[in-house]
Amino acid sequence: MNYCIVTYGCQMNVHESEKIAGILRGKGYDRESPLEEADIIVFNTCCIRENAENHAFGNIGALKKLKREKKDLIIAVGGCMAQEEGKAQILREKFPFIDLVFGTHNLSELGSLIDRRRARRKAIVSLLPEREETEDGIEPVRTSYPNAWVNITYGCNNFCSYCIVPYVRGRERSRAAGEILKEVRGLIAEGYREITLLGQNVNSYNSDGRGGMSFPELLEACASVEGKFRLRFMTSHPKDFSAELVRVIAANEKICKCVHLPAQSGNDRILGLMNRRYTRKKYLEEIAMLREAVPGCAVTTDLIVGFPTETEEEFEDTLSLVHEADFASAFTFIYSPRTGTKAAAMEGQIPESVSKERIMQLVDAVNENTRKKSAEFVGKTTEILCEDYDDKKGLYLGRNEAGRMGYFACDHNPIGEFVDLHVERANGISLFGKI
Ligand code: 5AD
Ligand code: SF4
Repeated sequence: MNYCIVTYGCQMNVHESEKIAGILRGKGYDRESPLEEADIIVFNTCCIRENAENHAFGNIGALKKLKREKKDLIIAVGGCMAQEEGKAQILREKFPFIDLVFGTHNLSELGSLIDRRRARRKAIVSLLPEREETEDGIEPVRTSYPNAWVNITYGCNNFCSYCIVPYVRGRERSRAAGEILKEVRGLIAEGYREITLLGQNVNSYNSDGRGGMSFPELLEACASVEGKFRLRFMTSHPKDFSAELVRVIAANEKICKCVHLPAQSGNDRILGLMNRRYTRKKYLEEIAMLREAVPGCAVTTDLIVGFPTETEEEFEDTLSLVHEADFASAFTFIYSPRTGTKAAAMEGQIPESVSKERIMQLVDAVNENTRKKSAEFVGKTTEILCEDYDDKKGLYLGRNEAGRMGYFACDHNPIGEFVDLHVERANGISLFGKI
């Protein structure tokens, strides 16, 4: 039988979809297929911004006809949006053909929910308000070789005032370090060449005492696993970024010299309203400390424009941060009010036309810096971990330590190999050259 999983949102969701695939395989769905040929379709949704939700609503709605033609098709909707208060009800009302709604706290139940749905032709909505334990034990079907994602924490305790994640993912839970290390060792033995440790705020790993060691200790332990591989981690919160973490990055070759450290804004008043608990000065001091210990370390970030009450001058502080912090790249977002968060209830919401104008300026600034950082590689040799083949370009591709995408020709299939790329030219975030 065939399955199709449609994923929205971040790496966390991408990895969760790998676990969903693992559960589906266990239920006899043994082949991944396009939507039209699937016997089960699972939407793994995201609700971090309104456009992610609209996208999912559009795609689910488009299945009405398929479901009418294929009575036995099972359509399941899970993930953050399904977990959002009141959304399951809206989904069921809008799309009565949905068979199964499940949330972020009962992923491990998906198998038995499918059994129940197969036994009785009645739609099922199963949501838990909060789950204490972590999701160890689900064997994922990995789709991103030579990289493998490894969860280290679930949930988030930070309650940034704009963010819905703490409401739909629950309190932060740390996986035991022993479990994480066992998974990493297994992955390296299987041939994975890059491990990315995942958490909403990896720096607060073990805040509940269940990890058994701090994040820098965990990172060091992972880096000491035998074999040639790269270690990445995301996401770091600047409020918890430590000198000890910087020391561990500097001391371990396998840890990529690339840190994703979301700044969100370059203005202190806005950072305060966002409940980020650091200042622009502290942020800049942290990356200065990082670059002093780890010369050339790439810093990438997330930035939001149009937070309630943000003035033009305050926005310009974010704009100037791009060059001052010298970001290697940045994800830029227009603030999206999320029902239930503190910021959504604030006065002074910014008109969309103003936010659009600001994001265009910000994207220009980010692109300019990205080009500058890419140009620094031209004429140099950089190590690439080959991950794919680009049919259109007729070239292999993979990232270097700093996250730049390198393209090159090769006389054999080098996917999963480390190659040295001599960079001849750069274009945006991409590097082109010979190996
Ligand atoms: N509006 C816009 N961007 C948001 N993010 C989180 N919540 C919102 C929101 N309501 C962004 C932040 C975060 C990234 C994953 O998504 O920049 O770091
Ligand atoms: Fe959201 Fe802040 Fe938690 Fe990140 S740290 S998931 S932005 S609440």
